[in-house]
Amino acid sequence: MKIIPVPYKLDKKRGSAVFEDASCVIDSTLGDEEYTLVSQDGKVCISGGSEKALFYAQCTLDQVKSGERIQNCEIHDKPRFTYRSFMIDSARHFVEVDEIKKLVDAMAKLKFNIFHWHLTDDQGWRIESEHYPELNKAAVRAYSNFGKTRVEEPYGRVYTKDEIRDIVAYCKERFIDVVPEFDIPGHTSSLISAYPQVGCFNEKTEVKTRQGIYENTVCPAKEEAVEIVEGILDEMTELFPFGIYHIGGDEVKSEHWSKCPDCQKKMKELGITSFNDYENIFLNRICAYLKERGKRCIVWNDALKGSGLSDETIVQYWWEQDKNRTADFANGGGSVILSPFSYYYMDYDYDITSLRRTVSYNPTFKTLTEEGKTNILGVEAPVWTEFIDNPKRMEELLFPRIIAVACTAWQQEKFTYSKFLDASEDIIKKLRAQGYSFRDEKHWGYTRAMTPAGWARFVNTNYSADYILGRNKE
Ligand code: ACM
Ligand code: ZN
Repeated sequence: MKIIPVPYKLDKKRGSAVFEDASCVIDSTLGDEEYTLVSQDGKVCISGGSEKALFYAQCTLDQVKSGERIQNCEIHDKPRFTYRSFMIDSARHFVEVDEIKKLVDAMAKLKFNIFHWHLTDDQGWRIESEHYPELNKAAVRAYSNFGKTRVEEPYGRVYTKDEIRDIVAYCKERFIDVVPEFDIPGHTSSLISAYPQVGCFNEKTEVKTRQGIYENTVCPAKEEAVEIVEGILDEMTELFPFGIYHIGGDEVKSEHWSKCPDCQKKMKELGITSFNDYENIFLNRICAYLKERGKRCIVWNDALKGSGLSDETIVQYWWEQDKNRTADFANGGGSVILSPFSYYYMDYDYDITSLRRTVSYNPTFKTLTEEGKTNILGVEAPVWTEFIDNPKRMEELLFPRIIAVACTAWQQEKFTYSKFLDASEDIIKKLRAQGYSFRDEKHWGYTRAMTPAGWARFVNTNYSADYILGRNKE
């Protein structure tokens, strides 16, 4: 009996029996995600603080059972973190609905409760729109040139509203809430290709065909631009009922803002010279708009480079050089989600981010105060898809590392690497039998991570020589 994530308290009793039945009751003295499970001579009694807690108890029960038989035991379980998330980038690679559902099935069993869905980026728009029909065309890029894999055909489509509703409902049945990401004010080439008036210069741009950080940005000085962003969010709120929205805020270039007369005028009026501060004024405005509609915002930790970010905003930490700023934000009362890229970015292969390294992540900062600790909402593992173009590859990058993330999200105790390998043996067998592709075991245990050799292999695997030498311009 190996249960993953390991329960808060697990008391294994002597004996086992043929499983007969399980009874479930709601016990309002327990927390929303807290349950107890008592297995005695084939009969199981479950109490949970909510339907969601009963669902988690059921996931545990599936692991307590072994074929026909069930071990006698007493379990009391509750998670370490309330925010346990995985992210899929559907902008660079359109992940089919059935594949998303397959992944959601596994994530639910691992007790993740958030699916962060990255739906808009330079390389494609993925949310069907009736009010802004040009966005549907911005789903398609002329070709794909992500380093080594150049594909000449036009690529991409939106998820229809029905598909989005279907996925959101599918997640909800498994107690997973969907946090959509509409990435602004940068990463907006597809948006600006559809509505050039959202950018600073009203210039036509193309949906990008390769990875990178582009200069296209929303022009915060133009009311028409902001109204379009707000209009899109209004349309999204019909599709995404959960109370948290991700609005990006990462990797914003200031070239356009520095040349735009409207932006320059606005910055003067505001009495600011920092583009980071300028970005935060825009993000705060959008967060306030969403707050009126009952939503709270997440932004990537890039926003902490500027001052004045509303302390109601949730910050998602990915860029590890900014750990002190992020810790200060938490110490000052701000909520934080942890996705350090050198541990939790699942798009890097195992020789860059080994399973061993993912297991070793300690979800805290050295400089956190006691109050700061209470402001860490949880963890998330993102999968970016510039270099992933098929489900098998995505699954191999996720499995088994995502199991380690699930453990860190739920368990109080950290695992050593060898303990993790031992404890996850059964769940790995089960997931494999259910058809999930795992990275070959020989790749799991690299002892060094993010080495120059690892990066060199990443570049050589994903980029052609022409690309590296700059002979492969669009
Ligand atoms: C990010 O990786 N740009 C959040
Ligand atoms: Zn501008």
